[in-house]
Amino acid sequence: MQPHIYTNAVLATVTGTSSYGLIQQGALVFGSDRILYAGPQSDLPDSYAGLLSQNLGGRLVTPGLIDCHTHLIYGGSRAEEFEMRLNGASYEDIARAGGGIMSTVKATREASDDQLLSAALTRLDNLITEGVTTVEIKSGYGLNRETELRMLRLARKLETLRPVRISTTYLGAHAIPKDMSADEYMDVICISALREAHSEGLVDMVDGFCENIAFSPAQIKRLFKVAQELGLPVKLHAEQLSPQGGTSLAAKYGALSAEHLEYVTDDDIAAMAKAGTVATLLPGAFYFLKETKKPPIDKFRQAGIAIAISTDSNPGSSPMSSILLAMNMGATLFGLTPEECLRGVTVNAAKALGLKDTGTLAEGQRADIAIWDVAHPAELTYRMGDAPLYKRFFGGAEC
Ligand code: NIG
Ligand code: FE
Repeated sequence: MQPHIYTNAVLATVTGTSSYGLIQQGALVFGSDRILYAGPQSDLPDSYAGLLSQNLGGRLVTPGLIDCHTHLIYGGSRAEEFEMRLNGASYEDIARAGGGIMSTVKATREASDDQLLSAALTRLDNLITEGVTTVEIKSGYGLNRETELRMLRLARKLETLRPVRISTTYLGAHAIPKDMSADEYMDVICISALREAHSEGLVDMVDGFCENIAFSPAQIKRLFKVAQELGLPVKLHAEQLSPQGGTSLAAKYGALSAEHLEYVTDDDIAAMAKAGTVATLLPGAFYFLKETKKPPIDKFRQAGIAIAISTDSNPGSSPMSSILLAMNMGATLFGLTPEECLRGVTVNAAKALGLKDTGTLAEGQRADIAIWDVAHPAELTYRMGDAPLYKRFFGGAEC
């Protein structure tokens, strides 16, 4: 089969350390699975010269986008809690009263596989129409062996139902069930369910929620030790609502990423820089919970920490399934540049998932590609509620 050859393109390769990696008058060639050439049209190898090509008329090409932090699979809705918050209750008040994550746990346990899949597919389809080709999905609304494993199996199943790559994350340490202590839950259920999920091949990464309404660093450490023993990379919801030291702990375990980070300290930042841990920022949750303390972007920049951005799609703190809106919020709420926003959903998001074969336009990378009906990459961060996708390729196939 002849490779796809696109000419007269604006390529945002996001290769290099800090820029769009922009190539005006670029050409892109890819075969059934891999990128064969991404560079200036003038340097296009002769072997492609006589073949049929398509002129993109100056359209922008980026890597397929990556949503590196979602809770896409869950039952029910938390619209009523949203209303309660608008009437004065806080996110923590609702969680302590048995609502919050626990109300989604109840709805998820009660939902059938078909119900969970069909709700997740609606959200996944939104992401796909925005050029997303890789999505991370966490468990964490089961909090028992059966439902945690079921969530992970359904996450894997989504990959067979849509042209998308799914990375799974075990988030058994998301909340503490009502009938037991955090220590008891961690040792008796959370860790043994992780072992079982891993033995079924369901787990790519391990995550936890380190917070005053969830697990302490000491409890998370026990989980990370087991992840390490199983050879699984870790990441952590850390310093979202208060400083707990979870970020430093995660960095000590070589975490791929630490997420949220509004209350991160200078020591945490130094530990992340040393470990190469990505800062995954979730502006949708910051917005939806009406937080006021922003993550310290300048300090991340000065420390050379890679910044990723994600939807955090979940029913309680970020009920959104638009990666482009997350980019816009990253810029308007956190002051990230459009360049940082694009890197945050491509190369740095791939790093947050430990994926080396996607997230940039370069020879040898997977042919996960988005072509846009715009000429400049800032358009992707600038627009609201509008996805100017022209074509999407997943593993070289248009879909
Ligand atoms: O990433 N912080 C913990 N977990 C989710 C919220 C989950 C929920 O409220 O259901 C988050 O924001
Ligand atoms: Fe989350």
